[in-house]
Amino acid sequence: MRSRLLVTGGAGFLGTHILHRAQNYTAIGTLHSTAVTAIPDVTFHVCDLQEPQHVKILLDRVRPETIIHTACSEQGGNLSAIPKAAGLLAIQAAKRNIRFIHLSTDQIFDGNTAPYTEANAPCPIHPYGKAKTEAEDLVRALNPGATIVRTSLLYDLRKPDRQTTRLIDAITNQSLCKLFEDEWRSPIWVENLADALLELATKDIPGTLHIGGPNSLNRWDLGVNLIQQFGYTPTPNIQKGTIERSGLVRPPNLTLDSSRATKLLQTSLLSLSQSRKSVLKTNP
Ligand SMILES: NC(=O)c1ccc[n+]([C@@H]2O[C@H](COP(=O)([O-])OP(=O)(O)OC[C@H]3O[C@@H](n4cnc5c(N)ncnc54)[C@H](OP(=O)(O)O)[C@@H]3O)[C@@H](O)[C@H]2O)c1
Repeated sequence: MRSRLLVTGGAGFLGTHILHRAQNYTAIGTLHSTAVTAIPDVTFHVCDLQEPQHVKILLDRVRPETIIHTACSEQGGNLSAIPKAAGLLAIQAAKRNIRFIHLSTDQIFDGNTAPYTEANAPCPIHPYGKAKTEAEDLVRALNPGATIVRTSLLYDLRKPDRQTTRLIDAITNQSLCKLFEDEWRSPIWVENLADALLELATKDIPGTLHIGGPNSLNRWDLGVNLIQQFGYTPTPNIQKGTIERSGLVRPPNLTLDSSRATKLLQTSLLSLSQSRKSVLKTNP
């Protein structure tokens, strides 16, 4: 019998990709306020993961062996949902002996001492990073067997993701858009991360695991590469910028060291060019 996998955030960017690739599981997704187009063999449950009763009813009905918790990102602006949902799911998963994989972010670091390994202590500098740090702390305290996966910027190569859509819109509307040359991340293709998480769902790896792409890229290079993927080139209104000149408070270098994941997982963590080759193979 196939294992039962619950993916929270079933209409979200990462959640949708996991559910599309979870053919080896009986896969169930959660929905919140956004409808989703049907995914073959996947069932959905509507719930608010901030509500203790909703979480209990969900788990009573679904009876998953594993939960991949992708819900509650910085989108939507309700940062208090991030620790609330993580805490409720973590404690229920521990009580019910359900393997729990919690999605966290590189944004829990301040960006001043990259590359970051799992041994580095969180030091968030903005509200989203603080909410995700609080969520991590709750998961660790309430469910010591859980895996906390910290990842980096997620990108899509088959259709423009949120950031790339914004850039393409700026090209179309001729509106000014600055891409920072001094902001570094370890971007990872969303399908590659989904595969790594589905592999992780078959393994017991308690503790924290960094899963980012193998190359550090700045936002300018990443942005330009991604618009080129969809046939666009930067127009004069798409400009290089720097965090320093913008006056914004942002972590400058959030490069993740994912060598622990590379050793533990069979799924190879792909660079942007390797991901492109993989897309070309399946979609020439
Ligand atoms: N995207 C990235 O580049 C990135 C980078 C690093 C880490 N991460 C982490 O990866 C995870 C997935 O990110 P993502 O980009 O896929 O997020 P996303 O597209 O914003 O999806 C988040 C999902 O959470 C749902 N949600 C929000 N509040 C909820 C609630 N109270 N109850 C139930 N569901 C709720 C949303 O549903 P509604 O829209 O219907 O409210 C949405 O479907 C997050 O934990 C994020 O912090 C993402």
